[in-house]
Amino acid sequence: MLKFFVLTIFPEFFESPLHVSILKRAIEKGLIGVELINIRDFARDKHRKVDDYPYGGGAGMVMKPEPIFEAVDYVNSVTKSSKKRIILLSPQGKIFNNEIAKELSKEDELIIICGHYEGVDERVKTLITDEISLGDFVLTGGEIPALAIIDAVSRFIPGVLGSDESAINESFTDGLLEYPQYTRPEEYRGLRVPEVLLSGNHREIALFRRRESLRLTYEKRPDLLKKAKLTEEDKKLLKELNINLE
Ligand SMILES: C[S@@+](CC[C@H](N)C(=O)[O-])C[C@H]1O[C@@H](n2cnc3c(N)ncnc32)[C@H](O)[C@@H]1O
Repeated sequence: MLKFFVLTIFPEFFESPLHVSILKRAIEKGLIGVELINIRDFARDKHRKVDDYPYGGGAGMVMKPEPIFEAVDYVNSVTKSSKKRIILLSPQGKIFNNEIAKELSKEDELIIICGHYEGVDERVKTLITDEISLGDFVLTGGEIPALAIIDAVSRFIPGVLGSDESAINESFTDGLLEYPQYTRPEEYRGLRVPEVLLSGNHREIALFRRRESLRLTYEKRPDLLKKAKLTEEDKKLLKELNINLE
């Protein structure tokens, strides 16, 4: 089981996302666990203050270091290992991707720290092992990135996805985007499902899907195609598509 300890000042933010669909099932099956730690519970003063004005002036509030340090101490005191990875969510971090998700899915315990306001006091960075960003944009808090990470990481834990939801053919698993998918009806508003998918010819279907996967990756994310490990057959398909990667 992978246990996520999420440090947040808004634990209620997580209520519904963790109680529906695949994450709900994963928690019920004991494949993942999510413990929400309210940073405010570790605030010592009588107003339970978790933020304060920035030294040097400027707009906004900064999250105080003491409640975050003490919340991490608390998690370390109730868990097996004191060597767990501690992730700070920040727009300044390394941009999250499927590779990082897969790597994190191998851990037993993870601490995720959600910032808010202008972010956390810089000294919190002495506590952490990873600083992760969801992308080059600024959110109001780390709760949405935390949920995105929990979701993406959980998909790599055996048993979390049913066999019909397998992660094997998804976008990024082999460095390419996934091929297009169709379901019933065969024709809708004059738009037909490609004939090959109705043919029952597995070899032709596999070739069609690989060709489309290469084509879509070239059109939408040429950066991925340049890095992907391509087989001789892929190179042949690219030639058929008139795609030259040189
Ligand atoms: C308004 S942001 C703080 C931004 C910070 N002042 C800066 O400019 O780097 C508040 C919190 O939201 C979270 N956050 C915002 N954007 C994020 C992103 N792209 N990825 C991960 N976390 C993000 C972080 O936890 C951050 O501490």
